[in-house]
Amino acid sequence: MPIQINISDQACGAAVTGVDLTQPLDDSQVADIRAAWLKHHVLSFPDQNMSDDDLERFTQYFGGFGHDPFFDPIEGREHIAAIRRDADEKSPLFAENWHSDWSFQAHPPAGTCLLGLTIPPVGGDTCFANQHAALDAMPDEMRAKYEGLTAIHSAQMAYAPDGAYGEKDEGRSMAIRPDESARETERHPLIRAHPETGQLGLFSCMGYIIGFEGMDQQEALPLLQQLYAWQSRDEFVYRHQWQPNMLVMWDNRSVLHCATGGYDGHDRLLHRTTIAAFQA
Ligand code: SIN
Repeated sequence: MPIQINISDQACGAAVTGVDLTQPLDDSQVADIRAAWLKHHVLSFPDQNMSDDDLERFTQYFGGFGHDPFFDPIEGREHIAAIRRDADEKSPLFAENWHSDWSFQAHPPAGTCLLGLTIPPVGGDTCFANQHAALDAMPDEMRAKYEGLTAIHSAQMAYAPDGAYGEKDEGRSMAIRPDESARETERHPLIRAHPETGQLGLFSCMGYIIGFEGMDQQEALPLLQQLYAWQSRDEFVYRHQWQPNMLVMWDNRSVLHCATGGYDGHDRLLHRTTIAAFQA
């Protein structure tokens, strides 16, 4: 049976059925999923009772494992991290700000896979913002301010010892490991062609972007703030509601994402892998 793709009525996202991810996929299934992923940017696969082996096998069809800094993997696995929050946890929500995973790397991951294991009965949605749509809809006058800029990316605000998940971050159930290496920087064009589709989009946002090449911070900061507000406007957003045993894969080159709360008193656990950068 060919896979079925049910497109969301929001800015991106589609649900995929008619495929069993607990079993190896054939080449045509992988090609169909890749094509849908590139087109809709966020795919969800409901009712997939996947093991960690299944999650790893699925990830590798799409480019191998990316490198995950600042997290310890789960026991016995090199490439799976637990996105976890316990029912009684009081630390600030993990990943609540918009971001593109590990955009501060020289070769940021193409995508991320997240498998819902323990899903709270309310809240805990993940939001995605389509950065092709955000660029396409940007008024000319605004776009002229960003055209040609090279963004400076760093993990320092999140993962340096004095960052949001640094030494002062207490009582967190996730295995986050802050490190001085978070202060390193990488540069990427702010507006760039998607490496596989060629479609122009905005890449990453304030947070991992800490400035622009050749611009002082006084000038860069308001530009970054204005951009962040634009990138995450409602009309560019798909809000994803989880179910247990649901896999979601997204394209970090096309979307920003952020976690949401609203589930205090309930556990939430998902297993995550990253898909390495595309090699042509
Ligand atoms: C993430 O950014 O990897 C986590 C998203 C979420 O917890 O919804």
